[in-house]
Amino acid sequence: MTVIAEQGATALESPQASPRHYVMCPPQYFTVEYSINPWMDPGTPVDVDRAMAQWTELKRTYERLGHTVDVVEPQPGLPDMVFAANSATVIGGKVLGARFRAPQRAAEAEHFRRWFTTRGYRDLVMPSRTNEAEGDFAWTGEVLLAGTGFRTDPEAHAEAQEVLGVPVVSLRLVDPRYYHLDTALFVLRRGPGARIAYYPEAFSDGSRRVLERMFPDAVIASEADAACLGLNGVSDGKHVVLPVEATALAAQLADRGYEPVLVDVSELRKSGGGPKCCTLELHP
Ligand code: ARG
Repeated sequence: MTVIAEQGATALESPQASPRHYVMCPPQYFTVEYSINPWMDPGTPVDVDRAMAQWTELKRTYERLGHTVDVVEPQPGLPDMVFAANSATVIGGKVLGARFRAPQRAAEAEHFRRWFTTRGYRDLVMPSRTNEAEGDFAWTGEVLLAGTGFRTDPEAHAEAQEVLGVPVVSLRLVDPRYYHLDTALFVLRRGPGARIAYYPEAFSDGSRRVLERMFPDAVIASEADAACLGLNGVSDGKHVVLPVEATALAAQLADRGYEPVLVDVSELRKSGGGPKCCTLELHP
């Protein structure tokens, strides 16, 4: 006998973790000395030791969950280098580097390019258009969701498709607080039947309709969860690392069988960053 349409099966997602490979960069030279997003106020003092403690705890969290973390050497004068996600998009051994919009961050791209080169990555392309990498690119395992509107150029989406050889779906961000795709959306589970979580109000009408059509079973985050950068999450398919303030989102995820792992990123948020911003993933 065939069971027709397992109605309600979407709520029970039986999440499964898979080991991940991450790249991070310690916030040794972290400051907020310029403002390139609404979260950054150069008047706000930053506690580097606290930022370092929060970053170290994030790294330990990944290691506790069984993931591999490589560390890139931080550079003086590059206070945002801790946000490693902005420096490359890596899928199947192919590396597409970054080209930053803000001149203050431009030099980060070359440090990461060199890191990949010394690690033996041969298939590496530096973008010709503004491209803030995983800040604006989210890999579902089947398509690359790509944000534009504030940082990454729409033309960089086409370039990513050409270089990485994966289908790209362009999405337009409309709220300056959610200036990167990874401040408004993250992938919970990769592969066929991928699941995402997102904050619809961060997207244009058309992009919202695209997301509804592609991900009818998405977790929809509230304004409060978005406002603490709760959508800057990192999932291994089961464990979901989130800012500690994202309580309603954590509850929604737990209801679906995921395991929220809450971390304090209050210092890094002063620069508009959260767990995902600090975490570049090397996708197999
Ligand atoms: N201050 C950094 C910037 O505005 C924060 C980057 C956060 N990274 C991210 N992936 N959203 O560029």
